[in-house]
Amino acid sequence: MGVEADFRGKEAIGRLLQRKKDKYQKLSDEEKQEIDQDALIHPYSDSRVLHIADDKEIKKALVGIDINSAEVIMAKTLGDIDLIISHHPLGKALANLHEVMELQCDILQLDGVPINVAEGLMRERISEVARGLNAANHQRTVDTAKLLGFNLMCAHTVCDNLAARFLKDKIDESKPERLEDLMRLLKQIPEYKEAIQFGAGPKIFVGNKENRCGKISLLEITGGTEGSPKLYEKMANAGIGTVVGMHISEEHKKEAEAANVNVVIAGHISSDSLGVNLFLDELEKQGVEIVPCSGLIRVSRVK
Ligand SMILES: [Fe+2]
Repeated sequence: MGVEADFRGKEAIGRLLQRKKDKYQKLSDEEKQEIDQDALIHPYSDSRVLHIADDKEIKKALVGIDINSAEVIMAKTLGDIDLIISHHPLGKALANLHEVMELQCDILQLDGVPINVAEGLMRERISEVARGLNAANHQRTVDTAKLLGFNLMCAHTVCDNLAARFLKDKIDESKPERLEDLMRLLKQIPEYKEAIQFGAGPKIFVGNKENRCGKISLLEITGGTEGSPKLYEKMANAGIGTVVGMHISEEHKKEAEAANVNVVIAGHISSDSLGVNLFLDELEKQGVEIVPCSGLIRVSRVK
């Protein structure tokens, strides 16, 4: 599903995997042992099966935006949970989160930013993110799942791709002219509608509601985490008028302001929920009962 929804298209992803396999073949046996085998068949480094305690049929899944030890203990208390699904990456999927950020280079290119500029700026940012992740206690939640005997997986960019595709289709369909039209469009989506109730609805971070949207980019909905702040100027040059994102740092906001790029923040956990829900609907269709937790605003689109 993540590949189907990916803006790069199936073929481009196939080529990326082939490149990885070719590179892998050239490694020595010693080097091969350090490579995550899943990466040769799965293009999203931040989405992985993290622990299989019991390879049984899944009837009930506990699903949250962030899963930590507290949620694993909660699963134990609830009793009949067969699988725990986290949206945000854990374990090796967290350690390798930065690898999915390359996806942003391709989206930037699709948005009209020259690939050399996109790669140059993203390379710098990707290594910064990689260094930042290095210090994390990656295995903490995985260890709890092992001790308490739970199946555990995480699905990050695969779900974010679903949210990005969903939003792109909505925007392409209704072609909002001004930011207020874009806001109205977002606020009709149930996950955002519910988020408004607890103060986390869509907000305009840069620009005002009278501004025209121009070309809208969904760069910041998928692709791991925030890209380079230096990209806004390049995006403006490429003809992007508005960026729709999940969240934005102060530094990124300042750069967007300087470049006159409007920024609409749809909401973090609500946007994450949207993507996760589209995935969970498929599980629901297969008879899996979903227990939402940890911020997940569960909306089922299964009729
Ligand atoms: Fe997120």
